Amino acid sequence: MELLNNKKRIYFDNSATTAVASEVVEAMGPYFTDFFGNASSVHSFGQQAKAAMDKARRQVAALIGAEFNEIVFLSGGTEANNLAIRGITQAYQDKGRHIITSQFEHPAVLNTCASLEKQGWQVTYLPVYENGIVRLEDVKAAMTDQTLLVTLMHANNEIGTIQPIAEIAKFIKEDIRPKRKNIFLHTDAVQTVGKVSLDVKSLGVDMLSISAHKLHAPKGIGALYIRKGVRIASQQTGGHQERDRRAGTENIPAIVAFGCAAELARKNIDTYTRQVEPLRDYLEQQIAKNIPDLVFNGDHNYRLPNIANISFKYVDGEALLIALDLKGVAVSTGAACASGSTEQSHVLVALGLEKDVVRGSLRFSLSRYNTREEVDYLLEVLPAVVEKLRRISPLYQERLKQESLKSQIA
Ligand SMILES: Cc1ncc(COP(=O)(O)O)c(C=O)c1O
Repeated sequence: MELLNNKKRIYFDNSATTAVASEVVEAMGPYFTDFFGNASSVHSFGQQAKAAMDKARRQVAALIGAEFNEIVFLSGGTEANNLAIRGITQAYQDKGRHIITSQFEHPAVLNTCASLEKQGWQVTYLPVYENGIVRLEDVKAAMTDQTLLVTLMHANNEIGTIQPIAEIAKFIKEDIRPKRKNIFLHTDAVQTVGKVSLDVKSLGVDMLSISAHKLHAPKGIGALYIRKGVRIASQQTGGHQERDRRAGTENIPAIVAFGCAAELARKNIDTYTRQVEPLRDYLEQQIAKNIPDLVFNGDHNYRLPNIANISFKYVDGEALLIALDLKGVAVSTGAACASGSTEQSHVLVALGLEKDVVRGSLRFSLSRYNTREEVDYLLEVLPAVVEKLRRISPLYQERLKQESLKSQIA
């Protein structure tokens, strides 16, 4: 465990971002110095860069069961979601003007859909219910003869629930496509890739977003899988990079890093589940045993192996986060892009949770680098921190008063 000012520093915020693996740092290093060429150049420097990029493209494609040419490198999950949604709606705008999505998507999807609504597109935001899972029958009911795109996340970034994407894909393939071939399914798999094994062909999606910094590669690099035969309107005008789907000189060191991380993730995928899931379950069980008044958010069966989202009633999540940070433990109250704002988590609100439960929620997100020793340290410090914060909560005091009155009457 890393020590800082004699304090343990533990990172349980791997859904926000991950540490870059040492193998990845080593792999990308020479592409800043010795092999710095532009992949579009004809000379040997360029060809070295191109060969490295080709290798990385094969590594990323292999991780998700895609073909080499179906991977477009870009700057990350946000851009992948933008390219998928804007690119498809522009390319096929004469084929339909309706999008189906859900209420608890990442802002990169929600805000893109909202901006398309302003341009006259119709968007249906499906409910996700208390368990945080979209229902196939709702997708069926929302479908109109104008529906061009269904965009639903593969796993939610705050609670980790996995959506029935394969069932939705099957419905589209069997019930809709025979009547209307121009209907597309996109999934934001930023939180899933590298954590559960995933194959784009058996999933049945047309597009899938990946972000490298969630799987131990650097920030600012990612990919969009685009199934062969699907057209997409590029969102930048410029050169012919990425087969005209994403203009701009490719970031070779980052792409090499992404490829290396993808290969490591593919090799580690079974150990990931075997190692991280029991650790997460242990964390949850021990917290449940030692701290009263909790709510565990999101479905417990269909979810990622690394996320636990727990509401600590009568506690302000933000205060709990800060108190834990002072003890050297980094967690989150929700998505990193939303924290710092006073807005409530739109994900937990979509689950229909009471305000107080939403306010007290914390996300613990693990990686393959976390250890039992680290979880034990959290379990050691957490009960006292929660208790201390509850003692200054007027709501909690009120509850204690009510309980003592009840016991006096009894
Ligand atoms: C589900 C989901 N989609 C998209 C993104 C955005 O990815 P990036 O940070 O690479 O832009 C994130 C990042 O937190 C995410 O969790």
